[in-house]
Amino acid sequence: MSNLLVTGGAGFIGANFVHYWMETYPQDKVVVLDALTYAGNKANLDPVAQNPNFVFSHGNICDTALVETLLKEHHIDTLVHFAAESHVDRSITGPDAFIETNIIGTHSLLKAAKKIWLDEGLNEENHRFHHVSTDEVYGTLGPEDPAFSETTPYAPNSPYSASKAASDHLVRAYHHTYGLEVTTSNCSNNYGPYHFPEKLIPLVITNILQDKPLPIYGDGQQIRDWLYVEDHARGIDLVIREGRLGECYNIGGINEWANIDIVKLICSLMDKAFAEDPTLAARYPQASLAKQGNSAELITYVKDRAGHDRRYAIDPARSNNELGYQPIETFDSGIAKTVTWFLNNESWWRAVMDGSYRDWIEQQYTGREG
Ligand code: NAD
Ligand code: DAU
Repeated sequence: MSNLLVTGGAGFIGANFVHYWMETYPQDKVVVLDALTYAGNKANLDPVAQNPNFVFSHGNICDTALVETLLKEHHIDTLVHFAAESHVDRSITGPDAFIETNIIGTHSLLKAAKKIWLDEGLNEENHRFHHVSTDEVYGTLGPEDPAFSETTPYAPNSPYSASKAASDHLVRAYHHTYGLEVTTSNCSNNYGPYHFPEKLIPLVITNILQDKPLPIYGDGQQIRDWLYVEDHARGIDLVIREGRLGECYNIGGINEWANIDIVKLICSLMDKAFAEDPTLAARYPQASLAKQGNSAELITYVKDRAGHDRRYAIDPARSNNELGYQPIETFDSGIAKTVTWFLNNESWWRAVMDGSYRDWIEQQYTGREG
């Protein structure tokens, strides 16, 4: 039995991880600490909100005293750190929040964990700080370059990836200097349920449903390596249980796609869904091009992202060989599930679009709070 503190658990990957963990290890206690920034959505935690083993704490990872209290009060042995500013475009227009949360916030967690676990000795022999990071810390690849491995030198190019690289180094330093028991995972692009619709895949799906343009940055030939979000959760689980202390593990499923190809694929899946299910046209009267089977007409080339990395690709050999990691979803199955999830969860993404998902400010949280 374990007591987990999950930071950023109301965000996209954190929430999927919490669902996965509480289903896989129903005896464990899961405490979510989340500041509910624009990317945090308490509805993402609705499936577990009434579970007696779930606790929600609304707070900031930079609040070291709060983190210390949570570690002590809930006898936490495992801290899984997702909380971050995560969107590259926002880091270009407003980097300060990325420095604050991703660097100072990670350091605040490390300080609290060191104090409670090492200095005060709670769970001294049995603790884990797992840091969730990204493949973007390795920079960008040319078309023929080998995929990123754990020994690829760090070369972050955006304020987002630079802030994540800094946090990775701090985690490593707390292991090397103080003996904090840490692991880090660096994952490729995730997709799936609860994905915030500022990111490419959910943006394209929800824009098709509203007959809005599908913006393609630059020539659309940039390559990303996509992994279904639950396969990321499975990978983190393996790293926490089997990973070597102080090590980093790349998580990915060898699934490289050019942006324009992925957008065209989603257009064809949406057209097919509308052709096969006549109720969709009535449910989504705005989606006139999908109804006609012509979603791809919405594709619109726009100005490129500043400093846009050309290609990411993960070499998952270490997690495959050492941990036996393999994703379960194929891209066909994962993207089909994702399209279906957005079609069936209109109220979720509409609430994000119209801002009503932020009504938590006025409403009392209905789950268990700690
Ligand atoms: P997200 O933006 O969807 O969610 C981030 C969550 O963190 C939100 O719930 C937000 O409210 C919370 N948060 C932000 N600042 C906070 C603070 N100061 N204190 C407490 N909570 C705070 O992000 P995501 O896409 O779910 O990514 C989660 C983690 O995984 C991040 O660390 C990201 O770098 C990493 N990652 C993401 C991807 C991806 O494809 N999305 C891939 C690899 C790694
Ligand atoms: O690689 C892992 C990273 O993946 C994570 O660390 C980040 O947190 C996560 O946001 C994601 O970063 P990307 O920048 O790769 O994801 P995004 O969905 O923003 O963009 C994917 C690609 O699509 C990228 O090449 C930019 C492009 N794009 C994006 C948007 C939003 C477009 O062409 N048009 C768009 O409107």
